[in-house]
Amino acid sequence: MLKAKIAVLVSGGGTNLQALIDAERSGIIHSGEITLVISNNQNAYALTRAEKAGIKALYISKKELNTQEAFETALMQSLEENEIDLIVLAGFMSILSERFTARFDHRIINIHPSLIPSFCGQGFYGLRVHEAALKKGVKVTGATVHFVNEIPDGGEIIAQKAVEVQDGDTPETLQKRVMEQAEWIILPRSVEKVAHQIANLP
Ligand code: GAR
Repeated sequence: MLKAKIAVLVSGGGTNLQALIDAERSGIIHSGEITLVISNNQNAYALTRAEKAGIKALYISKKELNTQEAFETALMQSLEENEIDLIVLAGFMSILSERFTARFDHRIINIHPSLIPSFCGQGFYGLRVHEAALKKGVKVTGATVHFVNEIPDGGEIIAQKAVEVQDGDTPETLQKRVMEQAEWIILPRSVEKVAHQIANLP
């Protein structure tokens, strides 16, 4: 395979999606191509980012589909129709069941805004992660990219980067520093690494 076809699943602002789009443009990602963006939130700015970059963007509504099972079936259909090789969860705020994760074994990666195994698992997402880190008083936090399996934030770690907590940090200032100094760097590199492995499979 020349290039792995990448789908990015999003729910919000999409700054990590933007980092991936920029990394593909600059050549940091050259073994894969982002061909699809899927959001479970109709109002996600990430959808606009995808459209601006000329990438096919879909909204799949969990509410309209009623159940997690139906939602995941719709996701699988879109991913398979578009012949996706690698799925990147970039701020995707929905936990996927084993039925889904087993279907794409070592083909799903996630970015989490802490150094796993700290501040992760069910209930730890977005600003909540940074609130918990500040509450605990840790002096170092960071971000982790990992493969996704049936355990929330429990799959094999691909990359981590540490970031210092500073006096006077709020969840918002800490989130911004973790994104700038860790997430937007390790996610594109990890995507290239895994895309390269997939593209070079015999
Ligand atoms: C990012 O900080 C990402 O690490 C986090 O949500 C934010 C999404 O921002 N993901 C999780 O907490 C997953 N458990 P973005 O939409 O601007 O990329």
